[in-house]
Amino acid sequence: MKRIAIFASGSGSNFQAIVDACQEGLLDAEPALLICDKPGAYAIERAERAGIPAVAFVPREYPNKAAYENAVLQQLQVHRIDFIVLAGYMRLIGPTLLSAYKGRIVNIHPSLLPAFPGLDAIGQALEYGVKVTGITIHFVDEGMDTGPIIAQVPIEVAAGDTRESLQKKIHDIEHIFYPKTLHQLFSIKGEKITR
Ligand code: GAR
Repeated sequence: MKRIAIFASGSGSNFQAIVDACQEGLLDAEPALLICDKPGAYAIERAERAGIPAVAFVPREYPNKAAYENAVLQQLQVHRIDFIVLAGYMRLIGPTLLSAYKGRIVNIHPSLLPAFPGLDAIGQALEYGVKVTGITIHFVDEGMDTGPIIAQVPIEVAAGDTRESLQKKIHDIEHIFYPKTLHQLFSIKGEKITR
């Protein structure tokens, strides 16, 4: 069974959905570690409640990104992590982690990529006035939300939708679809799902 590290920066509702799915037997993986780049994030509390080791980092305390990622990498090695799952981790993955976990890092993004990459994808979609947005699960490469797409789900933007209502719709789908997609990915020999 794959030992996964989940990276989160905020509330960690996707972290929770993944942990729950593992406990319910819907996702064949061991959630072995939470990595967080925001020491006060609610995701850490969730990990503590679930009995999952959590390590919080303050990236600006390191001289550069490589030093920060080396410290993260050390924790991944201590916890014998096979696969990295980004769940609301608001930081670009650098060459240190990318080369150590090549092809073994996935991300979820709240838009139909390549539309609205980067920060505040939901706000960008509302601002643009699209009638359909969605979620994308993709492998991580050196770019900003540019890696090969694994799965997408469209979500309708209703006339009266606010940022809050659209975010809720997106979260509801993410919480079902992310664990499900990870389960499918882990059950495919060689993990070769690409475009
Ligand atoms: C999720 O909606 C995720 O798609 C998004 O952050 C949210 C985290 O929520 N990720 C990105 O925007 C990545 N570019 P959560 O902390 O409650 O799981």
